[in-house]
Amino acid sequence: MLQVHKPYVLGEDGDHKFVWLGLDESEHEKGILTNQYLIMDKGESALIDPGGYFVFERVFNNVQSMVDPEKITKIMYSHQDPDVIGSLNLLLDMFPNAKFYVSYLWERFIPHLGVSVNDRIVDIPDEGMDIKVGESILRAVPAHFMHSPGNFHYYDPRLKIYFSGDIGAAIYPKGTWYLIVDDFETHRNFMEPFHRRYIASRKAIDLWKKTIENLEIDVVAPQHGSVFIGDNAKKFLEWLWSLDKVGLDLM
Ligand SMILES: [Fe+2]
Ligand SMILES: [Fe+2]
Repeated sequence: MLQVHKPYVLGEDGDHKFVWLGLDESEHEKGILTNQYLIMDKGESALIDPGGYFVFERVFNNVQSMVDPEKITKIMYSHQDPDVIGSLNLLLDMFPNAKFYVSYLWERFIPHLGVSVNDRIVDIPDEGMDIKVGESILRAVPAHFMHSPGNFHYYDPRLKIYFSGDIGAAIYPKGTWYLIVDDFETHRNFMEPFHRRYIASRKAIDLWKKTIENLEIDVVAPQHGSVFIGDNAKKFLEWLWSLDKVGLDLM
């Protein structure tokens, strides 16, 4: 079982890299464990879901160990939850050249963090968009109601890595965390209750499935829990598509 805590490269092709940004397991004491990701390409870099307030120091130090913070030009959010955007006021200062990409649904709520972000927010329309990082593209993939009503996943077509936001989240018994899923059957038990409650309905799964079923996906990298590679990425998607009732269907 891979239990590294330092940044770990999930995929690379020349100078294009997709990096998991490390973990301090004591974070478990403060809130649900979260994953953050860094994409590097030709001197430009981006972050996906850089996280809440208490992970900021770890995230910033790990980013700085790999790239100059001034080279971070894009920060992409899956949705509006505190474990996703809670460090925004620190990010604004520490990554002065970054623009923040978020669903247009959430833009008007973000100033309640006590920050003025007007010229630094880019609204993502419901249908998603392509976002250029260096010479590569990251695609904001609509996944509405797969948790939040304005929800995006991010797909890296060059490395076939799919960032799945809260989808794929696992809640472990204390001390059980690992970075890469080995045994899907065991891991599924850590995911099932979360997915039954946090996805709005089976209809959301059907819509999202149509959106992504033609993408080539080798790696699924979620915002919580462990990363699925190869066969386990396929098993994960098939498992999710097989959930007959979730959220409202069960209420
Ligand atoms: Fe969330
Ligand atoms: Fe989350």
